[in-house]
Amino acid sequence: MRDPPVDPSLSLYPGGPAPVPGTRYRLTELHSGLQLSMTVRTITPEELDWYVGLGDDDWLTEIIKGWWQGEGGQSAPDRCFVAEQEGKPVGRVFFYNLESSPRSQIMFGLHLNWETDWLTVGTNLLRRALAQMKTNGASSVEYRIYDIYQKPPELQRRVVEAAGFRLTQDKLRFVWKDQGSLVEVSNRLTFLTLADAGEPAFAEAVRRVTEQTLDRDDLARLAEVGPARAARDYVDILKDIEFRPDWWLLAYLPDGRLCGLVVPQRLDDKEGCINYIGVVPELRGSGYGLDLLLKGTAVLQAAGWKKVTAEIDADNKPLAAHMERAGFRHHGTLWCYRCDLVPASETSPKGS
Ligand SMILES: CC(C)(COP(=O)(O)OP(=O)(O)OC[C@H]1O[C@@H](n2cnc3c(N)ncnc32)[C@H](O)[C@@H]1OP(=O)(O)O)[C@@H](O)C(=O)NCCC(=O)NCCS
Repeated sequence: MRDPPVDPSLSLYPGGPAPVPGTRYRLTELHSGLQLSMTVRTITPEELDWYVGLGDDDWLTEIIKGWWQGEGGQSAPDRCFVAEQEGKPVGRVFFYNLESSPRSQIMFGLHLNWETDWLTVGTNLLRRALAQMKTNGASSVEYRIYDIYQKPPELQRRVVEAAGFRLTQDKLRFVWKDQGSLVEVSNRLTFLTLADAGEPAFAEAVRRVTEQTLDRDDLARLAEVGPARAARDYVDILKDIEFRPDWWLLAYLPDGRLCGLVVPQRLDDKEGCINYIGVVPELRGSGYGLDLLLKGTAVLQAAGWKKVTAEIDADNKPLAAHMERAGFRHHGTLWCYRCDLVPASETSPKGS
């Protein structure tokens, strides 16, 4: 069993001696006042089944294996952390990344004993894991807490906040279920696929519809890297999820002006999703967002999906209104957290 090297700048012992790389630390003084000895280590490849079993989420095994084996190196055993006390596991968390952004890590699978010591164990597990991820070269870590999946969400939120994550956005999850009738789309707009329009035109349309967006995450990215780079990055992120150039649509008015775009995607065999939708600023206020939403849903329905989801910023009232109109229902809330391990200025030169 090996211990990860420790980044001394993220010591768990503020004011105390700096950790020595390679040392297995024992935590003897914690803010809860408990006397607790806890170690944090990464796992070996052979431990995967045991590791996944800690959280009763066996479906993760194949996903994690795929990340380990994929050419993109989306995850690895040295990004899977376990906290142990006297040899017994007391917590677990791991990290992966999208292929387009290897330094931006996504945290997943946080599992603690939510009956006892969860704040102490969780905070220290996360701090140690984050320190190691920084040493590995990660610049930031994102974590999403879904109230319908990650129980108990309020305790999860307290742990990640105590470990240094900040809330960037809360989102509403909307779900559409096929009721048997075909989704009807108005004929106000005509559509062109990305396959026909080309990726540069699509990225330029993303830039246009993202102007004055109501999505706080997109606003932050705009401020960080500028509109053109934010649009290209966004297209790359969407491509990582799934790339169907024949499904990504640009919408035009009869006079040929660009109106907006919609990106319907496959999430898995049962669930499709609308992952981006937008109207150019000068055409907002006429409900074209509803046309786009219905069109995206119709594409997924025609391809056989009976369930379509969309996650939207809780502040995006116009889109929420369209969701209800299009037959989507609010089911679930999620909180998006981020922890910057290095200053954003070191990773994202602002471009125009
Ligand atoms: C979301 C978006 C597509 C909606 O554009 P749109 O179709 O022109 O929306 P509208 O302005 O017609 O508003 C839709 C509805 O919301 C209502 N609405 C607008 N602002 C509102 C507010 N602040 N509070 C409550 N309701 C509001 C409108 O009144 C309208 O309902 P109505 O037809 O009954 O009047 C557009 O704002 C956009 O492109 N935003 C930037 C991109 C974005 O945020 N995308 C989502 C991230 S995936």
